[in-house]
Amino acid sequence: MNDILLPALLALAIVAPAAQAERKAQQVWADTCAYCHVNGIGPALLGRHLPQATVQALARYGSRQMPAFRNSEISDAELAALADWISQQPAPTEEQRHEAP
Ligand code: HEC
Repeated sequence: MNDILLPALLALAIVAPAAQAERKAQQVWADTCAYCHVNGIGPALLGRHLPQATVQALARYGSRQMPAFRNSEISDAELAALADWISQQPAPTEEQRHEAP
């Protein structure tokens, strides 16, 4: 193995799992937000085309009964994707409104 290949492979081994660890927006929603925001503990969010900045600020800072989520819980990239996803979702059907995702 030459001198360049080994460090390159090591760097890949370190970087690759981190990249894979980033969750899709819908997964973050299901893991973290839906419990409250589908079951009526928090207000419904889907279909309201909430501004992305609102979603990001609420998730980072919390509000009254809503907890704040740190970077270690939801990365900046995950939160940006989540806010984008939430703001674009159509209103749920009557059935979806009562089931967990
Ligand atoms: C433990 C329950 C809980 C969880 C988990 C939770 N929320 Fe909330 N959320 C609330 C409550 C309660 C409110 C209303 C806050 C208030 O009255 O100030 C709220 C409010 C909000 C609002 C403002 C809605 C509006 O109508 O102004 C947004 C946006 C929001 N949450 C996004 C999220 C996102 C994104 C997640 C997941 C990362 C999440 N929440 C997870 C309970 C929760």
